[in-house]
Amino acid sequence: MNTPGGQMGWERKHLLGIEPLEKKEIEHILDRAEAFKEVLSRAIPKVPTLRGKTIVNFFCEASTRTRTSFELAAKRLSADTLNITASSSSFVKGETLTDTIHNLEAMKVDMVILRHSASGAPHFLAERVTSSVVNAGDGMHEHPTQALLDVFTLREKVGRIKGLKVAIIGDITHSRVARSNIWALHKLGAEVTICGPKTLMPRYADDLPVKVTYDVREAVKDKDALNVLRIQRERQEKAFLPSMREYSRKFGITEELLAGHAKPDVIIMHPGPINRDIEISPKVADADYSVILRQVTNGVAIRMAVLYLLLSSKKVEGSFEKKAQKKE
Ligand code: CP
Repeated sequence: MNTPGGQMGWERKHLLGIEPLEKKEIEHILDRAEAFKEVLSRAIPKVPTLRGKTIVNFFCEASTRTRTSFELAAKRLSADTLNITASSSSFVKGETLTDTIHNLEAMKVDMVILRHSASGAPHFLAERVTSSVVNAGDGMHEHPTQALLDVFTLREKVGRIKGLKVAIIGDITHSRVARSNIWALHKLGAEVTICGPKTLMPRYADDLPVKVTYDVREAVKDKDALNVLRIQRERQEKAFLPSMREYSRKFGITEELLAGHAKPDVIIMHPGPINRDIEISPKVADADYSVILRQVTNGVAIRMAVLYLLLSSKKVEGSFEKKAQKKE
């Protein structure tokens, strides 16, 4: 198989966030993903591109979409995969994250995909290990592959990102998806508005490349797409809202809200998991104009592109052997 994609070289060994990426790097990943999406449409959706590579999915927080689509992406590229969760590893016996990964590296793994509740955990790891590290969501910081699949889905649907008006609505403070999306959309030339209750808006919102509103009707007005976020109760140490009912009444995305204030062809996005009848009504989540499941489908192609690019980077070649030689 010819490896999909163009000629631009790829230099990065790790994918830790969207903020450090240049526009051309984001576009390069999207273009690669487009080619891999074609592979996924074939009768046998598998290529030998990463044969011989070993990828560890290390998830210290719950996940349905991200973990399975990374695993599927690795399998579609013929890599070997291992799945580890914090509760099923020697983490529970007190082994540190770095020691855990060093032990896995001793078995010659090439990449670690890490989801962790601590913001910065993948960065900490990337400084200490020789394998590639991919951030699969770190605390309230970033979720880069989610943003990549979101902009990929928007680009696929509309044909461009530049000039689009996108509102991100919900629990902005606790959302790594919001942060990564803001950077991806801004770098690709979209106009981004964030909206949510004041108690769920970060203090540094004014420093972000976004418009801010606390009125959901204003947020949805004239927008090409709405990215609706879940209230992250698991990250909230205190109550930020009087009640979920109150939140739903003021910020929930319903058919009535859209009919009264949004463009008729507005695109509805949600990273999942959905809390139906809280941040989004079932009718909106399941409507024709919702691309929520298309986002999930595209997640596999995006993650194939990320695995392929990072493991093909010259910075990865022979890194394990080089470290072993240095130690001798
Ligand atoms: N969007 C997302 O990260 O979903 P999971 O938590 O199921 O991986």
